[in-house]
Amino acid sequence: MKFFIDTADIAEIRDLAATGLVDGVTTNPSLIAKSGRKFLDVVAEICAVVPGPVSAEVAATDFDTMLREGRRLAAIATNVAVKVPLTVDGLKTCKALSDDGVAVNVTLCFSAAQALLAAKAGAAYVSPFVGRLDDIGQNGMDLIADIVGIYDQYPALRTEVLVASVRHPGHVVEAARLGAHVATIPPAVLRQLYNHPLTDKGLAAFLDDWARTGQSILGA
Ligand code: G3P
Repeated sequence: MKFFIDTADIAEIRDLAATGLVDGVTTNPSLIAKSGRKFLDVVAEICAVVPGPVSAEVAATDFDTMLREGRRLAAIATNVAVKVPLTVDGLKTCKALSDDGVAVNVTLCFSAAQALLAAKAGAAYVSPFVGRLDDIGQNGMDLIADIVGIYDQYPALRTEVLVASVRHPGHVVEAARLGAHVATIPPAVLRQLYNHPLTDKGLAAFLDDWARTGQSILGA
């Protein structure tokens, strides 16, 4: 499963990209606003740091303007994936951009029916928001299971399930269990994935015992 980082914070992206574990980045208007940066500039900077797909979302809601904005975003760098909302104008924009060879990430997906349409529109990615479904008492991962099950019926389908609105490590692990292609993970959650108190405790014990040997691997 691919790990994308869900942020527009360039310092976080640089820090986590250095681990070698980051396959891409997703942004959205809220994350861009939070960054305090000029949209086109920060997208260009992110694309230079992370060679994988970098999602940049249109702001318009009508097809004509979405298409023009999408083409402007796609021109920033070859690894830009244009993000459009799962609306009828978003789907029309997805079809037009995909037909032109532009990678599109169809976002704000909350049902299997919507995910079917994203695939028909030629999306490279569909982003079901699992955390926001959990917020209203549903089980967001059930939607992932549903979409993966449907897409698996059509091996020629190229749309990848990109699990979004990830709130904790359980979402990431369950996404992998279900066979999702990508999870886009907030930096804090990615760090939770590798932190475990028993690892820390075990390593401390190993280092204490090693120190008592008085040996050095690199020394004489
Ligand atoms: O990629 C979508 C993600 O940023 C939304 O997350 O926590 O606002 O539902 P959240």
